[in-house]
Amino acid sequence: MATPLAVRPSHSSVGSVAAGRRLGVEGVAPARVAWAAGTRGAKGFTLRCSLDESSAASGSTSPVVDVAPPTIHLEILGPNADEEVTTTSVGSGDKLLRNIILDNKLELYGLYGKVMNCGGGGSCGTCVVEILEGKELLNERTDTEYKYLKKKPESWRLSCQTIVGDKSNSGKVVVQRLPQKKK
Ligand code: FES
Repeated sequence: MATPLAVRPSHSSVGSVAAGRRLGVEGVAPARVAWAAGTRGAKGFTLRCSLDESSAASGSTSPVVDVAPPTIHLEILGPNADEEVTTTSVGSGDKLLRNIILDNKLELYGLYGKVMNCGGGGSCGTCVVEILEGKELLNERTDTEYKYLKKKPESWRLSCQTIVGDKSNSGKVVVQRLPQKKK
């Protein structure tokens, strides 16, 4: 007879059974946990699984485990000091910074970039941002960035080349948009 067990990641971006497997359950070998369908609720995704009899008998697990998946919290500043700060959170390693900015309907490009940007392909150099805090939570500068930003401060990044988080880290990143007047 299987014992029901629920694992509740608190972040809504964790929405797959596969993600639940990665969470692990203290004292229980993954092979002994059978995952079933999950349900989405107001606070995120609930994954249901069951343990085989020997695992249940060991009493080494609690019936419900709450797990916070790795999450990056962002503050996105406008190019001018008087602009409202946008805050948002994403699953670590899930998104490029360019996509996060555009998903939040924020202007990323200057006049030239609005017309001529490459759509995130790394060939226009117009999606520039400055990382004010949390650069250690991002990927290293790519070769494309070294090409376009070689005379710019180390804190400048091309947002289309910048991965926010590495799937395992969590923390805060503060970004300032820097629309470029020309290429
Ligand atoms: S959008 Fe063109 S380099 Fe980033």
